[in-house]
Amino acid sequence: MELHYFEPFKTKMTEPIRLSTREEREEWIRHAHYNMFNLRSDQVMIDLLTDSGTGAMSHHQWAALMEGDESYAGASSYEHLKETIREITGFEYFLPTHQGRAAENVLFTVLVKAGDIVPGNSHFDTTKGHIEYRKATAVDCSVGAAFDITNEYPFKGNVDPEKLEDIFRSHPVEKIPLVIMTLTCNTTGGQPVSMKNLREVSELVHRYGSLLFIDGARFAENAWFIHTREEGYGDKGVREIVREMFSYADGMTMSSKKDGLVNIGGFIGFREEELFRRATTFNIMFEGFITYGGMAGRDMNALAQGLKESTTEEYLSYRIRQIAFLGERIASYGIHVIRPFGGHAVFVDALGFLPHIPREEFPAQTLSVELYIEAGVRTAEIGALMADRDPVTRENRYPALEMIRLAVPRRVYSDNHMQAVADGLGRVWARRKEIKKGMRIVEEAPILRHFTVKLERSEFTVHSS
Ligand code: F0G
Repeated sequence: MELHYFEPFKTKMTEPIRLSTREEREEWIRHAHYNMFNLRSDQVMIDLLTDSGTGAMSHHQWAALMEGDESYAGASSYEHLKETIREITGFEYFLPTHQGRAAENVLFTVLVKAGDIVPGNSHFDTTKGHIEYRKATAVDCSVGAAFDITNEYPFKGNVDPEKLEDIFRSHPVEKIPLVIMTLTCNTTGGQPVSMKNLREVSELVHRYGSLLFIDGARFAENAWFIHTREEGYGDKGVREIVREMFSYADGMTMSSKKDGLVNIGGFIGFREEELFRRATTFNIMFEGFITYGGMAGRDMNALAQGLKESTTEEYLSYRIRQIAFLGERIASYGIHVIRPFGGHAVFVDALGFLPHIPREEFPAQTLSVELYIEAGVRTAEIGALMADRDPVTRENRYPALEMIRLAVPRRVYSDNHMQAVADGLGRVWARRKEIKKGMRIVEEAPILRHFTVKLERSEFTVHSS
């Protein structure tokens, strides 16, 4: 099919952006304790904090909302969603949840206990949080290339089968209730997992008698990368690729706020009835009855439509191209970005940007603050602040990568907005040597601290190199 280089939709409704001055932003961010989560949305001009729940719905989705069936039990919206999930993923059984982390909570309540090990490819922070909360351990088995920002390996989301097999060899399988593959892998840069790797990992996990679950928040974007990068898949359609991806797993957790193209929602998919039945009890306790699980009927309708739209070539080619456009514009200033570009975000290497700010002063958070002040762009820190403290030693953890993530909401911003973001970052790059102060923590929560942390500028003047 012929693919166009413009947005495959028109704008029907607009939402104004409040334009602000640098002085206003300096005041607002100080007031927000230098934490992006404390800013009000009208204090932000271009919001790249997350691609989660921030997308625009199509008019088909808005129309579907009007036909939502709000019956407590047996709603037609549930049946419709169940049928759509079965058709797209192949999973026969599903439970709706209010969002992705709720799906993790329900599933892990069934499967994970203290002392267990849950291997995967750089688990997302809520996934890791739910594992560690149960006194189990999330072990990262990502391929080495995932941590080398210039390595152009096309599937940096892959699990290293040798690392994974080592874990299975050295622990009884009862201690490894499941392996989680996150598609695409958010933590290492929105990087995809190849079909070959999924096949290999599935074979290994099942040979040892464990389970493979897919965290499918961005499964459609992953499928597009397989379509465009993996040998043998160029002629296959997105839906066929998606079905094959999920065919290797025993189930999935989903944050519908990403590739479901809705503002809230999640679900768990299961291949086997037995596990589904065990999870049902907890879903009823934590989320809601089986046929709504924390979602309104209208939202289930919108999700069913969203899943159909996100798995089309028109949508995905536009989506992935826009991320690459932003990445290229940023890189054109000489700024170090993770390559290849991911599916939902561009990740900027903060260590290369601010090499003179010591890691204990959070260079990525410092960069995020500077970009906000410069251009009113809100981004997320994916570095030591988010990596949190070691649950046992309580020492700060310093991950291999220290980045800011520019996550692009779906169908919301134009390429003009993307250009403005890149230019703003380019201006910070030009004055990077004048940025002399990092960040210092004033107050933090014991878990998932980055959401509520209070910071101030470090008191010490950092020596420039
Ligand atoms: N898994 C992945 C890979 C995610 O990226 C997220 C959320 C979740 C699970 C949890 O889903 O938010 O619906 O509860 N990621 C968001 C982000 C918050 O900004 O990357 P949720």
